[in-house]
Amino acid sequence: MSATPTAASEAVATTPELPPAFQTSARKPKKLPNWGLKVVLALTGTIGALFLAVHLFGNLKVYTGAEHFNEYAYWLRHAGEPLLPANGLVWVLRVVLAGCIVAHVSVATILWVRGRRARGRFSAKRNNGFRSFSATLMPLTGLFILAFVVFHLADLTLGVKPLAPATFQEHTDTAAFAYQNLIASFSRPWSAAIYIGMMVLLAIHVSHGLYTVVSDLGAIGKRLRAILITIGGLIAVFILLGNASIPIAVLAGVLS
Ligand code: HEM
Repeated sequence: MSATPTAASEAVATTPELPPAFQTSARKPKKLPNWGLKVVLALTGTIGALFLAVHLFGNLKVYTGAEHFNEYAYWLRHAGEPLLPANGLVWVLRVVLAGCIVAHVSVATILWVRGRRARGRFSAKRNNGFRSFSATLMPLTGLFILAFVVFHLADLTLGVKPLAPATFQEHTDTAAFAYQNLIASFSRPWSAAIYIGMMVLLAIHVSHGLYTVVSDLGAIGKRLRAILITIGGLIAVFILLGNASIPIAVLAGVLS
């Protein structure tokens, strides 16, 4: 069968090639758009901040005494039984949090690299006080928080010595020792100092992160924006004061 060229195929064949500047690079792999990455950063960061607020609520139970605090640690491991297996809820939280951390760090790194490339040899000079200071510190405070999480898990969850106290006790099927482990850890001044210092860095990171999330929401109105920014700031201050009070109370002998 002879192929008669149609008007359309002739048009394609005769279209002159576009100069390189006007060609769309169909072969290049599509880059994820910055706005999409920022949404991922905002969502995972907000989930992290919510976790910190709930974690703070749990941590403050330490002031209700050893029995209550250990009961709470025990409950966390057995919540939802027999529908869920032992540690079921804890594992769901671990998987969600680990996923958020991996996504948050990867996306933040991609955006940081793109920002540096786009800026080229021009340095990012901002001049609006604390906001600019905390914005510049985001990658650094983020790295410290990552290192802190590793230390914290070794110290109070896994009992990896010498990061964990020498008297670290594993939870058993019938009892938890979260209170004793916490007191033993914070009785070491260097460990208490790490926790207190980290809560300052964490508050800087969380307050700037939540400020950015609210600012990026855009068309929500001046009043609502101001309210949300204030709530974000308060969450950061509560995380700082509430958590830092615990190692301070142990060092001061208020908790023992
Ligand atoms: C002074 C501040 C803090 C105190 C007193 C504290 C205390 C604790 C305690 C007692 C546990 C439970 C250990 C157990 O039940 O065996 C725990 C678990 C945990 N903490 Fe903290 N924490 C603090 C800050 C933080 C911060 C800032 C983060 C995150 C950036 C964090 C992330 C975690 C995680 C992810 C776990 C769960 C570990 C697991 O079982 O998988 N904590 N924390």
